[in-house]
Amino acid sequence: MVTFETNKIENMELNTENKFIDLNFNRKGNEEMLNDSEIFYLKMNQRRTVRDISNDPIDPEIIKNIVLTAGTAPSGANIQPWKFAVVSDNKLKNKIRLEAEIIEKKSFEKLFSQQKLDDIAFTGNNWEKPFLTEAPYLIVVFKEKYRIDNGTNKIANYYPNESIGLAMGLLFAAIHNAGLVTIPYTPHPISFLKRILDRPDNEAPVMLLPVGLPKDDAKIPDKKRKSIEEIMLNY
Ligand SMILES: Cc1cc2nc3c(=O)[nH]c(=O)nc-3n(C[C@H](O)[C@H](O)[C@H](O)COP(=O)(O)O)c2cc1C
Repeated sequence: MVTFETNKIENMELNTENKFIDLNFNRKGNEEMLNDSEIFYLKMNQRRTVRDISNDPIDPEIIKNIVLTAGTAPSGANIQPWKFAVVSDNKLKNKIRLEAEIIEKKSFEKLFSQQKLDDIAFTGNNWEKPFLTEAPYLIVVFKEKYRIDNGTNKIANYYPNESIGLAMGLLFAAIHNAGLVTIPYTPHPISFLKRILDRPDNEAPVMLLPVGLPKDDAKIPDKKRKSIEEIMLNY
C-alpha cells in the first residue's frame, strides 16, 4: 500500500558530495541589456491566443525544442515536476475532442454562471473545440504532485504549482518564439486527459496546448494589455 510521508530531514549533516561547476555567464553592457530587453518585450507582446489553428504539418524537431525549453524552468529543489504529453495521433486527438466537447457542452449549457459567460463572451468561445483535431500537435502538461519512493512512500514535491507555472510560461514563450501559435486550453474537469493518456496517479493534467500555425483568416479578440502604470509598483 502507498503511504504518505512528509519530507523528513533525516540527516542534518552537510552533504559533502555536492559538486559545483563554473557558471558560464556572458556579462552584457547596459546598452546591450537595454536593447535585448526591449527586443524581447516587443516580441513577446506579439503573442496572442489564437483559436483558429490550421492543420499545416509542423516539424516534430521544433516541438522537441519547445518542450526542451519548457524543461529549463526553475523548480522547487530541482525536482522538475513536469511531463509534456505530445499528441500527434489523429485517433487520440479525436478521442480527446469528443470527451472535451461533452464536458464543454455541459459547462456552457448548464454549469457556467451568467458572470462567467459574460466574462468570456469576448473570446467567441462555445462548446465546440475544432482546434483539438485541427492542430498538428496537442501538448498536455502534467504536474507531478508527488514522487514515489521505493515503490511505497509518497514524497511531496516542493512548490509543484509554482514550478509548473514557470515551465508553462516558458512553453508559451518557446511556441511563440518558434513562430507558432497556441491556446491555454483548460476544460473543467480536465482529469479525463489523465485517463486517455494513461498517466499514473501522481500526475495531474493542468493544461492542454494545441500547437500549430494560424489559419489564413484567423481572428483574435480586440483586447489591450494593461499599461506599465497599472502593473508595476515602485517602492
Ligand atoms: C489559466 C488560463 C486558462 C485559460 N483557459 C482558456 C480556455 O479554456 N479556452 C480559451 O479559449 N482560452 C483560455 N485562456 C486564454 C485567455 O482567454 C487569454 O489568454 C486571454 O484572453 C488573454 O489573451 P492573449 O492570450 O491573446 O493575450 C486561458 C488563459 C489562462 C491564462
